[in-house]
Parts: sequence; C-alpha cells; structure tokens
Amino acid sequence: MAYAAFRSIGAYIPEKIMTNADFEKIMDTSDEWITKRTGIKERRIAAEDEYPSDMGAKAATLAIQRAGIEVSDVDLIVFATVTPDYLCMPSTACVTASKLGLRDVQAFDISAACTGFVYALSVAKAFIESGMKKNVLIIGAEKYTSILNYEDRGTAFIFGDGAGAAIISATENKDEAIVDVKCSSDGDYDHLIMTPGGGSKNPCSPEVLEQKLACIQMKGNETFKLAVKTLTSDVQVMLEKHNLKPEDIKHFIPHQANFRIIKAVGEALKLTEEQTVVTVDKYGNTSAASIPMAMNYAYEQGRIKAGENVLFDAFGAGLTWGSALFPFSPNK
Ligand code: UT7
Repeated sequence: MAYAAFRSIGAYIPEKIMTNADFEKIMDTSDEWITKRTGIKERRIAAEDEYPSDMGAKAATLAIQRAGIEVSDVDLIVFATVTPDYLCMPSTACVTASKLGLRDVQAFDISAACTGFVYALSVAKAFIESGMKKNVLIIGAEKYTSILNYEDRGTAFIFGDGAGAAIISATENKDEAIVDVKCSSDGDYDHLIMTPGGGSKNPCSPEVLEQKLACIQMKGNETFKLAVKTLTSDVQVMLEKHNLKPEDIKHFIPHQANFRIIKAVGEALKLTEEQTVVTVDKYGNTSAASIPMAMNYAYEQGRIKAGENVLFDAFGAGLTWGSALFPFSPNK
C-alpha cells in the first residue's frame, strides 16, 4: 500500500505591510484595541497586480524545491482559496499550473475557507493512498484584501494576504506516513461568515456593488465562541483516537485568526507556548494560507525537524473545520 508523506513546506509573504496604525487612519479603531482583542500588529497586502495564482506559484516553487523533486513530477494540484483569481472559471489551480510551466496535470480548486489547506491535505492523502497520484502539490493562497469592506470595522482589520504550499508524496515507509486527517462541516452556520453577493443567488449588480455584498461579512463574536469550542474538541478527538497526550505533540499549528482563540484553545488542551506556532501578530488571518504560512515560518526558524510530529487545527466559514496529524517527512 502507498502511504502519503508530508515532504516539504513553502510560503510567499507579500512585501507590503499594513499596520494597525494604518487602520487608525481609515476607521474608528486603535492599535491598542486591535492588539488587545486579537494580538494582530500587522498584516501583509498583495500588490495590486498580484493574485492568488502568483502568490501560490511562488510558495509552490519553494515547496517543490525543498521536496527535492522536479516541477514535472507534480501530478495533481489542489488549490484551496475563497479569493480565486476569477470568480467562477478558470480555476486558480489551472492558472497556477500554467505559471509553474505544467501543461498536462490534473488541477482543481477547493472552497473550504480557512479550513481549505487541511481539506486539500485530506484530498492529497486520499489520491496517494488510492494509488492514483504520486506527488500532490497543495496550496492555500488568499487575496482577502480583494473582498474586504474597509467600512466594516468589526471585520476588515483581522485579514491579510499570502500563500503557503506543500508537497505530499507517495512512500512505502509507514513511519513517514500522514497519520490522520479529519475534516467536517455544518452548513447550518453558513450565515456566520459569508460573501452574500456576487454568486448565482445574488448575481453581481449595481446594488451588490453599492452595498458591498461581495465583501466578507462576519459575525465575529458568535464565530469566536464556536471557534474556541470546535478547535478544542477537534484536537481532543484526534488525540484520543490515536492514544496521544498533549505533551506528545511537538508542533501545534492552529488556524491564525485571533491570538485570544489560540490562547484559549492552547490552555484548554494544556499545550504550551513552545509547542504552539503563532504568526497572527505578523500576518493577521490569511484564511486557507494561514496554517501553511505558520508552518513555513516555524520551519524557516529551524523549529521543525524531520520526524517530528505536527498537528494542524483549522476552522472557518461554512462552517468547516479539520485537523491533521503527521510526522514531517522530508526526502532524505
Ligand atoms: O477565520 C475564520 C474564523 N474567524 C474567526 O475566528 C474570528 C473570530 N472573531 C474574532 O476574532 C473577534 O470576534 C473580532 C476580533 C472580530 C472582534 O472582537 P470582539 O471582541 O468579538 O468584538 P465585538 O464584535 O464583540 O465588539 C466589542 C466592542 C463593540 O463595542 P461595544 O458595543 O461593546 O461598545 C464594538 O463596536 O468593540 C467594538 N469594536 C471595535 N472597537 C475598536 C468592534 N470592532 C472594533 C474596532 N476597533 N476595529
């Protein structure tokens, strides 16, 4: 049987920084409030002519290089985004494949908001274990600044842009295998985070534009409470299933939406600061890109070594949530 190994991580961090002080200039808020409520100090902003496919291709190039494979070895691209280059078609995965120089490869997008990268990982694992693919490129990339309403002071300041990518490859060595990926959803909570306009239910029109209905709307407070509860129980289920204790986890990489959420989940699970990767202060919430950007940050700090176990924990619009447990298994 083929197993799926998490071979490499890469990211692309846009150059431009938007600080909390920059928000003070455009809305009624303060650095003090944003820092206290979220831990966010700054976020990255993609250039005007830079799109998820560009950012995704750059993150992918790094991940491919670090995996020690050729671009032509990639036989599937799964692109997680809710801010695609184009609303309906073509998929951002296809555009990215072209930018990477891949002309004959299966490529598609998935939409699971902030849980997108974990959903992509579950797809990669399944394709590899079924024997259908050997090297899957998974990408999470977002240009949230394209769907922000800067008049919405309850939402706009938490999001940022960026991309992360990973190579998941077939292996016969069970010690390298991704242990488990668990993904779920509950559409009864669809109204908590949504872009109500611009889709087929409420197509683009002067009203949609005027009322900014194609921008993200979030009921932050309700979402916050569900995020803490779900992110915590998700990890508890994963640990129990695999007979692990919190101290057995080397690197806990949660979705980066709000430091208070990360802290509450960490405390409930008895995970220490040393175990937990935090980048929300630097990058804000980059949705599907948040977990791979955080993992890449820890990797580049020299914190994540071969064989060490990693636990992802994601939550987002849908509602969707998911967790993944795996050893980091770079090619030797
Ligand atoms: O990534 C997908 C999942 N998303 C999340 O997990 C996000 C979860 N939610 C959150 O992180 C938080 O709810 C926010 C950071 C978005 C908001 O923080 P909060 O503590 O839930 O604030 P709130 O919406 O309950 O508002 C509290 C107060 C209100 O004033 P009053 O009514 O108490 O007088 C707001 O008007 O803070 C006020 N407020 C602000 N003040 C200064 C709301 N936004 C701002 C602001 N600056 N930007």
